[in-house]
Amino acid sequence: MNTTFQTMDPSKKYRPYPQIDLPNRSWPNNILTKPPIWLSTDLRDGNQSLIDPMDIDKKVRMFELLVQLGYKEIEVGFPSASQIEFDFVRKLIEENRIPDDVTIQGLTQARTDLINRTVESMLGAKNAIVHVYNATSPLFREVVYNKTPEETIEIAVNGIKDIKAALATLPTDVYAQTNWRLEYSPETFSMTELPFAKQICEAVMDEWGATPDNKVILNLPTTIEVATPNVFADQIEWMHTNLKNRNAAIISVHPHNDRGTGTACAELAILAGADRVEGCLFGNGERTGNVCLVNLAINLWSQGIHPGVDYSNINEVIRIAEECTQLPVGARHPWAGELVFTAFSGSHQDAIKKGLTRQKDRETAANGKTIAWEVPYLPIDPADLGRSYEAVIRVNAQSGKGGMAYLLERDYGLTLPRILQVDVARAVQVLADETGKELSSEQIYEVFCEEFLNKTSPIEYINHTISHHTGVETLRAQLKVNGEAVLIEGNGNGPLSAFVHALNQKLGSKFSVAHYSEHDIHSDQTGEDAQAACYVQVAHADYAPAYGVGIHENIVTASLLAVVSAMNRSGVAQ
Ligand code: KIV
Ligand code: ZN
Repeated sequence: MNTTFQTMDPSKKYRPYPQIDLPNRSWPNNILTKPPIWLSTDLRDGNQSLIDPMDIDKKVRMFELLVQLGYKEIEVGFPSASQIEFDFVRKLIEENRIPDDVTIQGLTQARTDLINRTVESMLGAKNAIVHVYNATSPLFREVVYNKTPEETIEIAVNGIKDIKAALATLPTDVYAQTNWRLEYSPETFSMTELPFAKQICEAVMDEWGATPDNKVILNLPTTIEVATPNVFADQIEWMHTNLKNRNAAIISVHPHNDRGTGTACAELAILAGADRVEGCLFGNGERTGNVCLVNLAINLWSQGIHPGVDYSNINEVIRIAEECTQLPVGARHPWAGELVFTAFSGSHQDAIKKGLTRQKDRETAANGKTIAWEVPYLPIDPADLGRSYEAVIRVNAQSGKGGMAYLLERDYGLTLPRILQVDVARAVQVLADETGKELSSEQIYEVFCEEFLNKTSPIEYINHTISHHTGVETLRAQLKVNGEAVLIEGNGNGPLSAFVHALNQKLGSKFSVAHYSEHDIHSDQTGEDAQAACYVQVAHADYAPAYGVGIHENIVTASLLAVVSAMNRSGVAQ
């Protein structure tokens, strides 16, 4: 094993990113009130990071998905990088696949030939953003490009000149078909000295001739996350307050997720003055990915802010995204993962069960009006995302009685008395421990049947008749006891007491009914129409109190079955 972690002092190898001198920072006091302008870079940053980049069909599917979700700015690729990238953009335009209110964006390095090709790829689009970038941080300037700060600015400014020149050479009618906009990214912004980032951004804006009516999108990326999100928020607030011509710029952010704080960076950046966020569905993108657009949108939703995009069918979004990227969405992915609304632990299940019941009652009382969501452990209603409640409670060896009681009620219409839940949970636990796996609702019901409904030994109920005589009921029942046919008869003020009386006479015992409850069952699962479920607890000085359950379309039969089940479970006459 590598002992570096035990022996090395990491401060010798790594330095903390310096704090930003911003004593009057205002972002900590701000709150989110509206969504940012969204840009999806699934087809560019997302695509370029895939093991198998999307083919044209997958790109079209992804583009259609993004449009359907409501994204209005979509980076469709790096058209100068390959023929397939170029062809895809042409396909979108020539086949009229881009709605009028959607802007496509194409990325290019600040090089004349690449810029010309990028402009060419987007000819005929109604709305297009040429996105030019160059790296600005000292590490990249010195190590990767060997350029001075002045030369780095020159690269950016020349890129803008090239874009202007490419547009200027277009025939007037071709130029006029498109609303052309500019985006500039100082790549590695989050590692760049702020005064230098300001200088290069302002030089770009000056060269473009940015005005409030012709804003430049300044996209400030955490190309690599190198600090805590508060540092990024400070960097954005610093740019927001110090930029010379702020109202001629749209400040965009493009957080990556190296430290796992891409979402925090984006949210704090908005508090700090950013107008726009670039990201990918489910956080796809280089290395640990771009910030997750789904995460950000539903975070806003959970705060009562409409994100302006539609995630009402999250499962379908996952399906298409997985198909296009060939990357699975993790089971614990915020808001979207298979398990994110699921509780296995007993105490969580119990709280959710109570919360869902209360929420339903409050909704009924509000006559269908939308009311505030207040359910423990579920920060939003899974139904908002098109998720059913089915996956909310799942049972394994960590679950107590709450979960299995919830499933038996939801799927089999059985509302078990509390003490009985303990008995069922004990039996279910044995199976959960044995298998070490999650148990399905059907498996739980099987355990329940085994433990209660199929307890026909030593006593088995066959049938019964009842007759009434002046307030007294006489019950005759055919049973089998230890396999032998037996006829019993007893009197009481009701069928139940008459049956217990008859059984006691036959067995020479002194059982009494300590608890009785019943309810109707309307269950799709059992395929039966109305049936009754009876729960009986029998007490006896010589035996432990035991619960039994009977289910039958005839309520009296159900109660007798419950008594038999309880006595068999008590260990009588074995
Ligand atoms: O992460 C990054 O800096 C980028 C730029 C090209 C915007 O993807
Ligand atoms: Zn990126």
